Amino acid sequence: SADPLVVFTPSGKRGHFPVGTPVLTAARQLGVDLDSVCGGRGICSKCQITPSFGEFPKHGVTAHKDALSEWNSVEQRYDDKRGLKEGRRLGCQATVQGDIVIDVPEESQVHKQVIRKAASDRIITMDPATRLYFIEVDEPDMHTPTGDLERVARALQEQWQIDNVRAALPVLSKLQPALRKGKWQITVALNKGHDDTHARILDVWPGLYEGGIYGLAIDLGSTTIAAHLCDLVTGEVKASSGLMNPQIRFGEDLMSRVSYVMMNPGGDVEMTTAVRTAINGLIETIATEAEIDPNAIFETVFVCNPVMHHLLLGIDPVELGQAPFALATSDSMSLDAREMDLHAMNDNARVYILPCIAGHVGADAAAVALSEEPGKSDDLVLIVDVGTNAEILLGDKDRVLACSSPTGPAFEGAQISSGQRAAPGAIERLEINPETKEPRFRVIGSDIWSDEDGFDNATATTGITGICGSGIIEAVAEMRMAGLLDDSGLIGSAEQTGTSRSIPEGRTHSYLIHDATADGGPLITVTQGDIRAIQLAKSALYAGARLLMDERGVDTVDRVVLAGAFGAHISSKHAMVLGMIPDAPLDKVTSAGNAAGTGARIALCNVMARATIEKTVGEITKVETAIEPKFQEHFVNANAIPHKTDPFPELAK
Ligand code: FES
Repeated sequence: SADPLVVFTPSGKRGHFPVGTPVLTAARQLGVDLDSVCGGRGICSKCQITPSFGEFPKHGVTAHKDALSEWNSVEQRYDDKRGLKEGRRLGCQATVQGDIVIDVPEESQVHKQVIRKAASDRIITMDPATRLYFIEVDEPDMHTPTGDLERVARALQEQWQIDNVRAALPVLSKLQPALRKGKWQITVALNKGHDDTHARILDVWPGLYEGGIYGLAIDLGSTTIAAHLCDLVTGEVKASSGLMNPQIRFGEDLMSRVSYVMMNPGGDVEMTTAVRTAINGLIETIATEAEIDPNAIFETVFVCNPVMHHLLLGIDPVELGQAPFALATSDSMSLDAREMDLHAMNDNARVYILPCIAGHVGADAAAVALSEEPGKSDDLVLIVDVGTNAEILLGDKDRVLACSSPTGPAFEGAQISSGQRAAPGAIERLEINPETKEPRFRVIGSDIWSDEDGFDNATATTGITGICGSGIIEAVAEMRMAGLLDDSGLIGSAEQTGTSRSIPEGRTHSYLIHDATADGGPLITVTQGDIRAIQLAKSALYAGARLLMDERGVDTVDRVVLAGAFGAHISSKHAMVLGMIPDAPLDKVTSAGNAAGTGARIALCNVMARATIEKTVGEITKVETAIEPKFQEHFVNANAIPHKTDPFPELAK
């Protein structure tokens, strides 16, 4: 009679296998994604499956209770030790006895799909460059002498079909004790990049290593550094953390940092050291927060603008300060973390840096392209990633254009009198009652809105420290809508606006948001200087977007995606009231959170995404804002709120 039919779900893959075939073997032969670290030795438990019994007309299968071999002693031992979920079997132990339908649960899939937290519901498919393998290694033999590493390489070849294995010196020194302690059974963490011809052993453990392996996605901005620690098996974000870029003390924006290097020989080295030290500190913080051993961090993916890119790598950025803005390299980089003095993670950790697009358009813009995929869009989409430098992409299936625009740090809360990084204590949302002119707000870390007047809502206002980027955008837009601000950006006096919250400051006025000085707390106001800083930032952003639209020959776009490393998502209404972005139907303006950071996470979790973005970058048309004569004109006209000449018909609705 014919061999039993095995159908795997959810893949639908099926085939006939002789009685006695382990489920794991059947899965492998059919190319079903079923995980295994121990190679079927019954010790890793990664191969768990759920058999289904009964009638399955859809699959043409009737599965009897005895269609799988009986629960065996290996499974029993595992169940006693760790507990197997109800209905689960180990795929390497259960063997096929009859027709059967077998489900591979999400956690047993290597290429599991991770739902992104961003507003869009796209997913990341796990395919990390670093994975764990358990191997049994031959013992040394005097008669056929070979080195321990050579026998490890042979075991990886025979047991996992992995060729060309190498090990760095720090691994070699751990290998011999690990092999002997593990009685010739070890686990290796193996890394293979998308364009590598060989695999690298990053670490070894005696026996089966049951700890996790992790990676970092770091968005290295001019003003803030944001990091996500991800589990390299599940893709889960274990912790997120951020800090101010310490290079700020050398210059607030990119060009002032380049000037610092020009004026101060050795300034580039100072800034490289500062940022690397900060990143090492950030790695320690985030590992502590996630309660993991920093030695279990094996990879870091960086996205950053070209100047940050060069300073991170220890390359003098002066060429980026003048036309033709030549990068030392625009290619992606794969290197050892220790080459960059990043010592806070595993000794052999690897670093991947996304490719840059052009002299002013960096790996951060590439990351936004990877995350938001404008080149797959049917309609014309404008994507703005707001930071000290805004990354702007415009495109659809036909063609994608990119530029970057020097918005300055105002959108990140810097250069704002009460501004701060998006962190607990910062006001992130704000509304102003157009009648009473009284504000109410919400602080990061609390989901409670403050009361409109008096601010005696203790829970909402305790620990308040300042106002972050998304908060200041809302504050300025709300002030405009409440008539506290005219279209040139001037704050009215108490008489003009009818509220005592307008307080004179020299020859200008400020708007009072919150006064906690009586309790030793902060005085939070929006000053005329703050409004001017936001106007400069938003004009630069708008002008960059307009330039891309000119290049593409359009006056409107179909939709807008707002992104930024802010704590909260940017409110589309407020962004448009302010004139940060061109007019578009409000329901076509969406927020994507930190798109550059998400792009970094995708490249961290899926090694082939690195090849994808390297190819995509080559197809993007770069527009250099610094040399476009029209930029200045667009910039001046965009200074008014929302704009001097461009219409905003959608706002009137
Ligand atoms: Fe490791 Fe089955 S493959 S327990």
